[in-house]
Amino acid sequence: MSQEQDKIFFRNFTLTLVFIAAMMVAFYTIADLVTNKKGHAGINTINTNDSISVSNANPTNGKNLSQPCAVCHGADGNSINPIWPKLAGQHASYITKQLKNFKEGNRVNAQMTAMVAALSQQDMEDLGTYFEGQKNNLGYAKPESIDLGQKIYRAGDNNTGLPACMACHGPTGSGNPGALYPAIRGQHSEYTATQLKMFKSGERNNDVNSVMRSIAVLMTEAQISAVSEYIQGLR
Ligand code: HEC
Ligand code: HEC
Repeated sequence: MSQEQDKIFFRNFTLTLVFIAAMMVAFYTIADLVTNKKGHAGINTINTNDSISVSNANPTNGKNLSQPCAVCHGADGNSINPIWPKLAGQHASYITKQLKNFKEGNRVNAQMTAMVAALSQQDMEDLGTYFEGQKNNLGYAKPESIDLGQKIYRAGDNNTGLPACMACHGPTGSGNPGALYPAIRGQHSEYTATQLKMFKSGERNNDVNSVMRSIAVLMTEAQISAVSEYIQGLR
């Protein structure tokens, strides 16, 4: 090869490399867009919890393990302070999923992270089964929130495409343990509203396929507050 041919060869070779690199960047960008449809930067979806079996759980061991939980959640899972969720009557499968999410860092809360560090999967199932067996003491809704709250819960909002909460959480808010839809009836309105705001901002992102994030993002503050009150009184 002459010097001139050499130069042309290297220029073409470099152009080819640049072209390949550009194609790779484009490919990975498209692949990323397709797999992270919701576009929440840096948030991955979780696949560890598609089904949770609690059929070998031991509620007596769960009761023993629940002593440190009582300080915040109440001995029978009916917390008094509305920032701490009631666990009484919650599905064991959903409780197990949440404890796993806290332990693996997929749901973040400083108080809970400390509590789950030493728990095994079996402990989580035992705790879940114990709390599921407790009776939720339920609550009441402020009368002025019932109209809007009921409308959102039972029919959603056609203007924004907000689905009815009832479609998954059920007409009485009892959820669906197999599908991991939590029971929400009787829950403290303050806790419920906080969770909806955290789903809306993406701060809570342990919902599989972004199901609750894509719902909460459609809600106004007024709708969040009214439906949370309504849920507190639901039974
Ligand atoms: C110091 C207070 C505190 C203690 C003790 C505590 N928790 Fe919690 N727990 C919280 C708070 C606060 C939240 C809500 C976190 C959030 O906002 O995401 C929570 C949330 C939960 C949830 C999720 C409930 C839901 O509806 O999604 C479960 C399950 C739970 N705790 C179980 C336990 C168990 C089991 C123990 C004992 C091993 C325990 N907690 C001890 C404060 C506490
Ligand atoms: C398509 C099904 C679906 C619909 C519709 C739905 N949810 Fe949910 N919701 C879920 C699932 C699944 C979870 C559990 C997420 C997780 O695994 O942490 C959840 C969790 C929640 C939680 C957190 C409960 C807790 O104990 O922390 C609240 C609050 C909630 N939903 C309220 C609502 C409200 C209000 C509506 C209506 C505006 C609604 N959801 C509509 C499926 C649904």
